[in-house]
Amino acid sequence: MRSHYCGEVNETLEGQSVTIVGWMHRRRDHGGVIFIDLRDREGLVQVVCNPEDAESFAVAERVRSEYVLKIVGKVQLRPAGSDNADLRSGKIEIIASHVEILNASETPPFPLNELLDVNEDVRLRYRYIDLRRPEMQQRLRFRSQITRQLRNFLDDHGFLDIETPILTKATPEGARDYLVPSRTHQGEFFALPQSPQLFKQLLMMSGMDRYYQVVRCFRDEDLRADRQPEFTQIDIETSFVEEEDFMSMMEEMIRHLFANVLEQALPNPFPRMSYADAMSRFGSDKPDLRIALELVDVSDLMKDVDFKVFSAPANDERGRVAALRVPGGNSLSRKEIDDYTKYVGIYGAKGLAYIKVNDISAGREGLQSPILKFLPDEAVTAIMSRVEAETGDLVFFGADKATIVNESLGALRIKVGHDMDMVERGWKPLWVVDFPMFEWDDKSQRWHALHHPFTAPKEADLTLLETDPEKCLSRAYDMVLNGTELGGGSMRIHKTDVQAKVFKLLGISDEEAKEKFGFLLDALKYGCPPHGGLAFGLDRLVMLMTGASSIRDVMAFPKTQSASCLLTDAPSPISDDLLKELNIRLRKLPQAE
Ligand code: AMO
Ligand code: AMP
Repeated sequence: MRSHYCGEVNETLEGQSVTIVGWMHRRRDHGGVIFIDLRDREGLVQVVCNPEDAESFAVAERVRSEYVLKIVGKVQLRPAGSDNADLRSGKIEIIASHVEILNASETPPFPLNELLDVNEDVRLRYRYIDLRRPEMQQRLRFRSQITRQLRNFLDDHGFLDIETPILTKATPEGARDYLVPSRTHQGEFFALPQSPQLFKQLLMMSGMDRYYQVVRCFRDEDLRADRQPEFTQIDIETSFVEEEDFMSMMEEMIRHLFANVLEQALPNPFPRMSYADAMSRFGSDKPDLRIALELVDVSDLMKDVDFKVFSAPANDERGRVAALRVPGGNSLSRKEIDDYTKYVGIYGAKGLAYIKVNDISAGREGLQSPILKFLPDEAVTAIMSRVEAETGDLVFFGADKATIVNESLGALRIKVGHDMDMVERGWKPLWVVDFPMFEWDDKSQRWHALHHPFTAPKEADLTLLETDPEKCLSRAYDMVLNGTELGGGSMRIHKTDVQAKVFKLLGISDEEAKEKFGFLLDALKYGCPPHGGLAFGLDRLVMLMTGASSIRDVMAFPKTQSASCLLTDAPSPISDDLLKELNIRLRKLPQAE
């Protein structure tokens, strides 16, 4: 239908006739002349309809926003002084000789030709219109480029693209499963995969050697800006590799991606940090290294002080007292500090002690704080020296269970960093390594796998599985970029006895293991190669690379925070007939208030 995309018509076509199709973006009547901006995937172009061409002019008079038009016309340079530098087609206009309405449009629910802050629910309900916005078009195009680059890299490195089932059995990745009732096996359910973890391991046992898949994963979990109930992984697995070689190949892939798509050079190699270091210095296993603030442990200095808020956690094995020095933070107002105190409350912190440093050379007299009176001189001097405080600083303190201190001060560090404009520009990738195999869950009183139950322990720590599981480190690694976990993976257990030990530690009985993962345990017996891999969150990667603030903005048809699709109205009730066929009877729903 078209000879050129609207956005591609430019001065090189001067004097030529072109045929363009697209949506009526904007119309202006100018003293008898009508200007139409026609829009398609590639951009806008200005069309001029003169009254001398009565037929076209009459059609142009009738067109409204979002009408679909076909226009034939001649390209000419715009009159001097009327160039539009914002448009690729800004040096030219098209003098229409034929204007045809291919389809009319009702007035759209929100205008596309004005910058309006449209409610996200409305955008999602009319997603097909929202996706016409240039910003959304660019993001999806960018996403396609990113997937292509990753596919190219993996294809070039001998990886096979293999599909794995969507109707399957539960894979433990820590979220709830989405379930699908079976009609042919009544009372039984498929689970949608939280990841293809077990299948990709089986593919290694099948001798496929190198596998990848751009694959949809399903997790029923609490949603946030960087989480969706269905999302896409670049899922990868290889045989006969060790973590060093594998991690450097994955790094190379990401460097290649950033160089080709954004023309940005990432460090070579990526820095590495142990999980223990990340938690202690940043209170997080996905530290944002663009912010120079760090947590400093002061537990040892607080063991003997009279202030119970500090001394109790300092003397508790699972407790922690940590300081966060904020350079220039002395200028924070009482209200700002109160707001930060409320903020850390979200993470369970019971308070947020602080010391303002008015004059570091004046000793105690130069400091200002409601907790100063509880602390002896030696402790104050030792803290100031350990955090390297300077005049004009403010030092925050967190004291509680280590998990609470880490989470609250970790989040505070990010918030203060943003509020005080301390976020360095650019890209700060790193690997987080040396994760513990297990973490103790107080609520259920049992060990949980920090990664997943198929992650191998470090060779040197094998005996710790029996003697001191808490100290046992795993062969897992996470790739982190600007404070977001881009991907994670591990070398896997490939020996039956080790897998059995790990299941046992996790409180999975032999019967349960057999019922849930019997096929994997069987497969381990028949010549399983050493193997390992990783999965990247594609949506998160695209979100970071496009500067979007939510992964919803880089998905064509995302779901809302409450995991529904406003466009199709899914999920929705099903008919009694269907329920009967599945032999499912619904319990009475709780009455809405
Ligand atoms: P993991 O559970 O760490 O590992 O997931 C890998 C990556 O997937 C992304 N991700 C998500 N993105 C959007 N919404 C979600 N709800 C969501 N959940 C996870 C993250 C994360 O880093 N099978 C293992 C990988 C392996 O061991 O090879 C796995 O799924 O970016
Ligand atoms: P209080 O004695 O409870 O009034 O607390 C004195 C100061 O210590 C206040 O500034 C509180 O915000 C702070 N504070 C209380 N509990 C904690 C805690 N768990 N961690 C850090 N600071 C706290």
